[in-house]
Formats: sequence, structure tokens, C-alpha cells
Amino acid sequence: MTTVYLNGNYLAMEDACVSVMDRGFLFGDGVYEVIPAYGGRLFRLSHHLHRLQNSLDGIRLTNPLSDCTWQEILDEVLQRNREQTSASNDQSVYLQVTRGSAAKRDHSFPDRITATVFVFSTPLAEPDPVDKTQGVAAITLDDIRWQHCAIKAITLLPNVLLRQQAADNNAAEALLIRDGLVIEASASNVFVVRDGIILTPPKGEQMLPGITRDLVLELAEQHALPYAETDISENTLRQADEVWVTSSTKEVLPVTRLDGKVVGDGLPGPVWQSMIQLFRRYKEAVRNGTEK
Ligand code: PDD
Repeated sequence: MTTVYLNGNYLAMEDACVSVMDRGFLFGDGVYEVIPAYGGRLFRLSHHLHRLQNSLDGIRLTNPLSDCTWQEILDEVLQRNREQTSASNDQSVYLQVTRGSAAKRDHSFPDRITATVFVFSTPLAEPDPVDKTQGVAAITLDDIRWQHCAIKAITLLPNVLLRQQAADNNAAEALLIRDGLVIEASASNVFVVRDGIILTPPKGEQMLPGITRDLVLELAEQHALPYAETDISENTLRQADEVWVTSSTKEVLPVTRLDGKVVGDGLPGPVWQSMIQLFRRYKEAVRNGTEK
């Protein structure tokens, strides 16, 4: 039985109910976070809560909880779902805040309304070892999303359609191109390696500032791996030696086929090998409680 948190209560998932008038349901009027927890310890929680605050500010919704209360709830959900997981106790926590439900359907914000807060966790499987040894396929698509992609909004229909197009083409991800530049992917950030240098697009309103992305850059900095935050043209992408996608659930995943063509020599590259070792070490440090 999975336990969820909903508006102050811990409940069995099947007993958790939200009003059909909830603005999350009617308008997609809400924001969310996905936070990995290794060995029951939340990964980069302060970064995720900071991004949550930015997303809430972006949709003009007051944060219903303090950071301290968020941590208590997330820890409690992880603890209650502990027995569902393997010995490693790796879980992924999903949290969502919507503007709540009002009696009347109206696009503009209702007065006096209480936000809906929902949290659940699921076991987090290690990424497929085959994907790590062979890499995955990706396709490129036009970025059809809105202009505020830095907000982690629950309104994900374009991302859903883009990812499904990738799935229809037996690809793991869709890399999104806007005005000739690579922006990110349908649910991950994008890295390219060219002549030994790790490149990723700079942050801005057009993309989600990924927590995994930031850690990859921090690790590159700490271990003197050359990197740059810079615009990446579609041309640079197609000539890349290596392409990676990063996210809380995919970690750092090598892309070895792009639009049916081989990337580099068709196998996860040497720079990725270095980065994944650093990433795994960091993950173990979180599990042991020596990193956050
Ligand atoms: N998605 N870009 C987009 C559009 C995303 O949806 C995500 C994550 C990322 C990577 O961010 P992070 O490293 O903080 O996970 C980038 C989550 C995992 C999801 O929607 O399930």
C-alpha cells in the first residue's frame, strides 16, 4: 500500500480524493517537483525547494508550507513507503501544489482559496544498465511549448505529446529545438561534448533549470573537466562527439543515436564515463549522509 500526503493527512493512495473543481484538474493550475531520495535521504532538497518557490512565484501562488514543514512531510512519506522499496531504499518523491478548488469555474484567480498539497513516493529503480552500456536513442522535435518553461508547471500537455512522439519512434527522449538552438528535452536537460568540452545551454525562461544539470556542472568544475554554458546550435548537436540527457530519474544518460544516426562512435563516450563515476560517487555520499 502506498501512502500519500494530501492537505494535512497521510492516507492510502486509493483513499486520497481531490475535488473535481480543483484548478489543477480544470486548468492545470499548479506546479510540482520530483526529488530523488537515496537510502531514504533526499537529494539536493534545498535546491528543489528553492526551485519550487520560484515556480510558485512564477504562477503567483503563496507557498503553503515552510521549507521545514516540507522536509517533515517528504521524510514522513518516504518513511511510510519504506517497506515498498528494495534494500537500497531509493525512492522518488513527487510533490504538487495547485491553486485549490473554488465553487465556480473561472479562469482568473478566485478570492479566498486554499491550495491543494499532494505528495507521494514511488520506488526509484536504478537506470537500466543496458541504457548505460549502449546509450539510448533520441529524436529532435520543434519546441512547441510556452515561453515560461523555467516554471515547473503541471500543465505538461506539450511535453506529453513530444515524449509520445519519441516513444512512437522507439526513442527515449525528444530533444527540443527552438530558433535553431537546442533548448532541453521533453523531461530532461541536454549536454553535448565537443572536442572534450562539456557544453549545455545557459539557463533562461526557455528551459527548466535542472537540479541534475547544476550538479553535473558543479562536478565538472570541481574535477577540472572543461565545460561551458553556451548556446548549442542544431548543427553542433549533429556533430557532437557525445550527447547526454540529465534528470532526477534518468541521472546522466548517454544518447548514442540521434534521429536514426549514430552519435560519435555509437557508444557512451569517455567524458560521460568520467562524469557518471563522479555522479555515482556523489549519489553514494548522499546515501551515506555525507552530502545533501
Ligand atoms: N522532469 N527539463 C524538463 C522539461 C523536465 O521535466 C525535467 C525533469 C528536467 C530535469 O530536471 P531535474 O534534473 O531537476 O530532474 C529538465 C521530471 C523528472 C519529471 O517531470 O518527471
